[in-house]
Amino acid sequence: MIQKIEKINKIKGELKLPGDKSISHRAVMFSSMAEGESIVRNYLNSADVNSTINCFRELGCEISVENTNLRIKGKGFKGFIKPKNNLDAGNSGTTTRLISGILAAQDFETTIVGDESLSKRPMNRIVDPLTKMGAILKPSSAGTLPLNIYPSSNFQNIEFDMNVASAQVKSAVLLAGLHLEDETIVIEHAKTRNHTETLLGLRVEEDEDHRKIFVSKSDYPQAKEYLVPSDISTASFFIILTLLTKQSELHLKNVLLNETRIGILKVLNQMNANIEVENEAERNGEKSGDLIIKSSSLNNAIIEKDIIPNIIDEIPILSVAGIFAEGNFVLRNAKELRFKESDRISAMCENYKKLGLTCNEYDDGFEVFGEIKNSDVLIETFDDHRIAMAFSILGMLSNKQLRINNFECVSVSNPDFLNQLKVIAQ
Ligand code: S3P
Repeated sequence: MIQKIEKINKIKGELKLPGDKSISHRAVMFSSMAEGESIVRNYLNSADVNSTINCFRELGCEISVENTNLRIKGKGFKGFIKPKNNLDAGNSGTTTRLISGILAAQDFETTIVGDESLSKRPMNRIVDPLTKMGAILKPSSAGTLPLNIYPSSNFQNIEFDMNVASAQVKSAVLLAGLHLEDETIVIEHAKTRNHTETLLGLRVEEDEDHRKIFVSKSDYPQAKEYLVPSDISTASFFIILTLLTKQSELHLKNVLLNETRIGILKVLNQMNANIEVENEAERNGEKSGDLIIKSSSLNNAIIEKDIIPNIIDEIPILSVAGIFAEGNFVLRNAKELRFKESDRISAMCENYKKLGLTCNEYDDGFEVFGEIKNSDVLIETFDDHRIAMAFSILGMLSNKQLRINNFECVSVSNPDFLNQLKVIAQ
């Protein structure tokens, strides 16, 4: 479906956005693993999280939806049943990589499949450490899906020094480690999102240049109630639209403010954004608060290497802010962006060039500047939800009409994107 996008003149009002995607996935997984009934409140009802829900239904869990809540009857330690079908992870890397850590420890065989985009994404980053644990995983010859996982009689704990800054890889090993009496240790050098260790209450030792995370069977999840704060990655699109629209003010309720996810607020703050936080709270170890966003004149700022893992999903929309800010938008040290739902470096550059902007592509980033010269451009989303939403916001900030192809891919993380905009656009 091609979606036309037009300029928005003013933003006013309040939104309560859906639950955080990373936390929703994990709450479903941990509830399904636990013995007995758990409740997940304000979960994200999107294609990605529904892929996780469907995988656990295949594994024997009863999961019912009640408005924005889930009621999950978990199967307890090693209680999953062998699925009749392949497990379909759809478009979701988080589903695939995290569930692989759980399945590697089971006593039955499973196969994970996914859509065209997911089937191109690298899986050896989880296959290698799980194989070191003695698990048996066989991806395609290209190291991609389909991924066959077999039972192993030789499954054991490891100390794993991470060579890629990825919360999905870290989580795959930690979730496998939950099935072993002896302690598994994961060492990370870049601080990636920490929801797995936070929600499971794992022991973490931290100094300036690394974090050590410890896990064993004693940390196996128990049934409980989760309350999922609103997704800060989804909020970023609305924040940047409001900052760059004149005479605008937006209130976003109960947004996730986990320290490993607020990189976007830190960078926007350096860019001179007017964003205030109110009513801070904490639930299940996860911080949240209300955000008050007001129109601002932004300047581009230096994006430090260390913050990249904490803004990785927000870079497409951050670069849109960069185009409307003073100076050039420059991104380096972000090669991981090439391995997302699309190659986001080349996807952003291709579309910026179509709009008439000057864009220099690097192996690990890009630089973009200039004026949007062309109107009625057809944006290529590469079926990537964050590319679709980033260019929708760009279209709402400029007076050149845009068209966005395969717009329905926004349902991966926010099916209600356009309706939420209607509530606040004046
Ligand atoms: C996620 C981790 C990140 C992020 C993804 C969600 C998670 O991926 O991009 O959207 O929930 O663990 P990587 O682990 O590949 O960096």
